[in-house]
Amino acid sequence: MCRCLICETQIKSFMSFGRMPLGNGFLAPENYSKEYFFDMDAAFCEKCKMFQLTQQPDEEQMFHENYAFFSGTSVFMAKHFQEFAEDVIKNYLQSDPFVVELGSNDGIMLKNFADRGIRHLGVEPSNNVAEAARKKGIECITEFFNEDLAEKIVKEKGQADAFLAANVMCHIPYLHSVVKGIATLLKPNGIVMFEDPYLGDVFQKTSYDQIYDEHTFLFSATSIQYLFGVHGLELIDVIHQETHGGSMRYVLSHKGARAVSDGVKNQLDFEKSFKLDQSASYLQFKQNCERSREELVALLKDLKSQGKRVAGYGATSKSTTILNYCGIGPDLIEYISDTTPIKQGKYTPGAHIPVKPYDEFKGNYPDYAVLFAWNHAKEIMAKEQDFLHSGGKWIVFVPKVEVLD
Ligand code: SAH
Ligand code: TYD
Repeated sequence: MCRCLICETQIKSFMSFGRMPLGNGFLAPENYSKEYFFDMDAAFCEKCKMFQLTQQPDEEQMFHENYAFFSGTSVFMAKHFQEFAEDVIKNYLQSDPFVVELGSNDGIMLKNFADRGIRHLGVEPSNNVAEAARKKGIECITEFFNEDLAEKIVKEKGQADAFLAANVMCHIPYLHSVVKGIATLLKPNGIVMFEDPYLGDVFQKTSYDQIYDEHTFLFSATSIQYLFGVHGLELIDVIHQETHGGSMRYVLSHKGARAVSDGVKNQLDFEKSFKLDQSASYLQFKQNCERSREELVALLKDLKSQGKRVAGYGATSKSTTILNYCGIGPDLIEYISDTTPIKQGKYTPGAHIPVKPYDEFKGNYPDYAVLFAWNHAKEIMAKEQDFLHSGGKWIVFVPKVEVLD
């Protein structure tokens, strides 16, 4: 038993994924002996409806000067954030606006504000990615956001017209401090827009690889409405996104400051009809995960027995959950190809599969490639036509385990 991170109700794990390393903890063999593991268990709170991990590593262990995830590795995501920023600029900024982004990483979103001379601030604790943003002319501070930092920003720079975040709110266990900080930072008529992987998509697609150390929570409109409501902020719109395999953009303002769209009620109704608010659904999800695991392992073992060469495509943090939960190592997957320099030459967390530069894949296609970066399938499949033409086949596991040729 433990206490819900949001409403402090006693909750109990409904599923254990076993011992897990850090999702982005790519490492060299000399560091295997001191590799960090934690028990990754998921729980659901029946009161506030929040899906959460029962424990997670310290934030300094995950986000630091050698953080492995650079947002700019996907062209599709750069376009997505350009459109996101353009929506904010067109619809929500007043005169002499100020925009704050949480988890601004290498500046993929803020670049669009900086290039237009709009006053902005990125809050980004991982200094290597923050440094990449600064090189593009983006202002950012190397800090973890919380209520104290919000007060400091208000004193030094004033309140914000827009508070933005993508794929970071769900990372932060102390969300009450963060949301309190947002309420302090936001102008009376300001707007909050953030997006994260959506619990409904994870359930529909059995995409359990969205569950890893950094993802303390998987949100729904129901749980977000509860959490922000505690701090006087109101959910005024929800906009479903294709990104990261199905995300939700939540739009909020101070309570009563703006009109609430019909979309909010529709989404809350959907979540009820889809039974996202009921414990039984979580047990069903667990069974779906177990079935998916059995099918993937059986397929890989079968291919190995036929002497086929299998590689992975995209050393995602999500793949850490797949590899460790399924017990897949270098015996079943030769290597994983990835375009991120900091990951190359290292080994995947826990499973210790070598991560190789993209040329390794391109220069000598394997028979099969497991698409770990399945959330970028459109972008990847469009540029990897030669792999298929050479007789290569994709293995996907979301929404179900299958071979694509
Ligand atoms: N927004 C980017 C990056 C997401 S990765 C995108 O969508 O691609 C999450 C980022 O949030 C990391 O760069 C991490 O360093 C940062 N982060 C983690 N905890 C944070 C906190 N408390 N405050 C601000 N940023 C945080
Ligand atoms: P991503 O799925 O965006 O995030 P996460 O790590 O949170 O699961 O990670 C995609 C990874 O795949 C990243 O390491 C870059 C890599 N990648 C490629 O190697 N080639 C590509 O064409 C793309 C789009 C990504």
